[in-house]
Amino acid sequence: DAAGRRVVELVAAPGVAAFLPGVATPTWGYGGLPFGGPTLRARRGEDVVLRVTNRLPETTTTHWHGATLPARCDGGPHQPIAPGATWDAAWRIDQPAATLWYHPHPHGATERHVHRGLAGLFLVDDDVPVALPDRYGVDDVPLVLTDRSFTPDGRFDEAHRNAVGLLGDTVLVNGTVAPWFTATTTRVRLRVLNASPARSYRLAVDDGAPVALVGTDGGLLPAPRTVTDVVLTPGERAEVVVDVTPGRPRRLRSLPHDLGAVNGVARAAGGDDAFDLLELRPAARLDPSPPVPAVLSREVPLDERAVSRTRGFVLRGDRINGRAMDLTRVDEVVPAAALELWEITNRHTLPHNLHVHDARMQVLGPGPRAWKDTVAVAPGTTVRTLVRVGPYTDPARPYMIHCHLLRHEDAGMMLQYLVV
Ligand code: C2O
Ligand code: CU
Ligand code: CU
Repeated sequence: DAAGRRVVELVAAPGVAAFLPGVATPTWGYGGLPFGGPTLRARRGEDVVLRVTNRLPETTTTHWHGATLPARCDGGPHQPIAPGATWDAAWRIDQPAATLWYHPHPHGATERHVHRGLAGLFLVDDDVPVALPDRYGVDDVPLVLTDRSFTPDGRFDEAHRNAVGLLGDTVLVNGTVAPWFTATTTRVRLRVLNASPARSYRLAVDDGAPVALVGTDGGLLPAPRTVTDVVLTPGERAEVVVDVTPGRPRRLRSLPHDLGAVNGVARAAGGDDAFDLLELRPAARLDPSPPVPAVLSREVPLDERAVSRTRGFVLRGDRINGRAMDLTRVDEVVPAAALELWEITNRHTLPHNLHVHDARMQVLGPGPRAWKDTVAVAPGTTVRTLVRVGPYTDPARPYMIHCHLLRHEDAGMMLQYLVV
């Protein structure tokens, strides 16, 4: 616009998509897509205006999950967009390169709005050079995972919730059933988002080949980590680099997992299910990719010795610290410059996770520190995480802290905090 800001227009509207052969499914989508949304991309230092127009039949919001941003731009339940209205979120992008995403966050209806299809990726770039594959759609490939069940007449099944929420029997990857990707390089970076309302995935390559984990929710790891699987609970992201071998297709799968839950509960949470996610087919000729760099990020890790305060969060039922979400109550007040230690305890039989808006977190434990905004907390366990919020302050508008299993969030497993 005239002020030199980059304006990105996004319309949320109903659509119709064909996921199953010959079946038309009514959906909601962003940016003219019937399902999902376009990948947004912005660079650190850029002034953006994300302009959302609501052409849906009901009020929604658009939240920028993982973004460091002023509370008025957050897009949580306090920034409703009425049908026909347009809302601007304008701020200067100022955070390290990361794979963020966006989705609706209307109070009490987030699961339904996301389930109808509203979710997209939001990639942040920065000026720190790192030799990772970065050609979007060529060797830097987004994978938005979500699951749906269909009714006999081809609609998304919104009726069969269980204790974790809506679980589907069909996985959609970027809105596609049973996708394949033709790799033209010897390494491919996959940016994986779990955009599912309730389902967790344990990602692995079908021949057990190790992959390099290079990034998590909030940015790149200090150094790559060789792993054979990666668990993603709802809202979490992982960036992995997979080797491509000439003449040898590989399948990315989701394997059973228990999320720390006992057997019957793990089954109810979808832990017994296995899925094929993506077939990676090598092209006849592969261009060589550089090796995964030994150093990915020099960002200074959060320093446990600088913690100014410890807070506890107990997850149980649909409550946090015994409280249900109340739009008129502020639960925590956090100083903008502070580094805090948050101890998150799951005193419940179900797996939960905790997502903190505006925050960049590092979970304490062995191994190199990863940047997180959503952390899984298995039943009966406590996760200790360093939390940094700010720099934006607002004495009146809160950010959210909640379980990202969307049924739980909608049921009230959410608190509000101010950054002052
Ligand atoms: Cu991804 Cu408060 O949400
Ligand atoms: Cu968020
Ligand atoms: Cu939960």
